[in-house]
Amino acid sequence: PWIFFVTPTYKRKDQLVDMTRLSQTLSHDKRIYWIVVEDREMPSMRIRWILERSGLPFAHITTLTPEGVHARGVEQRNSALQIIERRKLNGIVYFGDDDNAYDIRMFRELRKTTGVAVFGVGFAVGHYERCVVDEETGKVARFATNWVGGRMYAIDMAGFATHSSLIIEKQPRFRNDWGVGQLETRFIGQLVGNLTDLQPLMENCTRIYVWHVKTQGGRQDEVKNDKEWKRLSSLV
Ligand code: UGA
Repeated sequence: PWIFFVTPTYKRKDQLVDMTRLSQTLSHDKRIYWIVVEDREMPSMRIRWILERSGLPFAHITTLTPEGVHARGVEQRNSALQIIERRKLNGIVYFGDDDNAYDIRMFRELRKTTGVAVFGVGFAVGHYERCVVDEETGKVARFATNWVGGRMYAIDMAGFATHSSLIIEKQPRFRNDWGVGQLETRFIGQLVGNLTDLQPLMENCTRIYVWHVKTQGGRQDEVKNDKEWKRLSSLV
């Protein structure tokens, strides 16, 4: 099956670094449809070129995050969900942020997804979060994490995938007014009713094939010299 790899992206000093690396990871796999949603008004040429050079089929759209919203990538992922639903795309939907690191072994595993699948995520700071499988039943029993935060499905955005048929049926959306760290659990809550409905992947959640990389956010991320940035963008 196709993988619909949904990537929100926004202008910051690491953007070209991250998007170059990501495009070259994804281009190892020929059955990925890359849906890139830029957080701006008009599509940028710099991202367009990266997409074209990837050799992958892609959708390049934009959705601007409204003023005052702190959640990241929410509106952009919702726009991608709309495309998937409207076009009735058939395959696996994965929310792949632009700054993470993806082991290409992940793609083969993702293709086993029938409903909502979950798996472990490594954090670049040196810990990991994962689902734990009950050996007798083979079902997901709980999540092992440093921070539960009242989350039923305590997993990062990078740690789950959904079959598009379930998306088309349930039409789930992310919301900006959900609390910090609640995006994933509340989104998954629209798709399944119980932990045991989740399909464990990556050798029963025992392997880490994806790394969450945290970019700083805020002032440190801002592009300092716009003229230089434009010149740089034209050189890649
Ligand atoms: C964590 C999760 O891994 C994110 O998937 C989740 O959206 C976020 O928390 C949240 O709950 O808001 P974090 O490192 O804070 O991650 O988020 P980023 O990786 O910085 O951003 C997530 C995605 O949204 C990235 O692909 C980024 O390029 C994009 N983004 C971020 C925008 O499109 N616009 C922004 O203003 C910020």
